[in-house]
Amino acid sequence: MTSTEPVSLPAALDSFSALWSPRILTTVNDYDVRVAKVEGEHVWHVHEGTDEFFLVLDGELHIALRESESGSERTVVLPKGSAFTVPRGTEHKPYAPVRTEILVIEPTGTLSVGDRHDDVPGHVDVTTGHVLSS
Ligand code: NI
Repeated sequence: MTSTEPVSLPAALDSFSALWSPRILTTVNDYDVRVAKVEGEHVWHVHEGTDEFFLVLDGELHIALRESESGSERTVVLPKGSAFTVPRGTEHKPYAPVRTEILVIEPTGTLSVGDRHDDVPGHVDVTTGHVLSS
């Protein structure tokens, strides 16, 4: 749902502590704007039907990518303030070497572990995003 009042990003980030468990900040058209706190490894996964936008608010996010054309792997490093879009159909695994805060934009209903994924470790929340508690 789109909130009818302004949303404070710092307050939103202060309202939860779970890692790899995105909160829906707001929506725009058919997209969620989500925030998450992350540290350590996520899981290899792919979103077949959608790109996924990342903006690093604090910390540093690495995203390992398996390029579908060449099959080669590379990792992009996003320091604080950097943005990157993972193209649809590209297997990826986010990793944060330190406690990191990210903003993610993707279609409402997009699952955090994608359409296909490796075994999901216990610390990774399988979710389409949680409502922010006020
Ligand atoms: Ni993803």
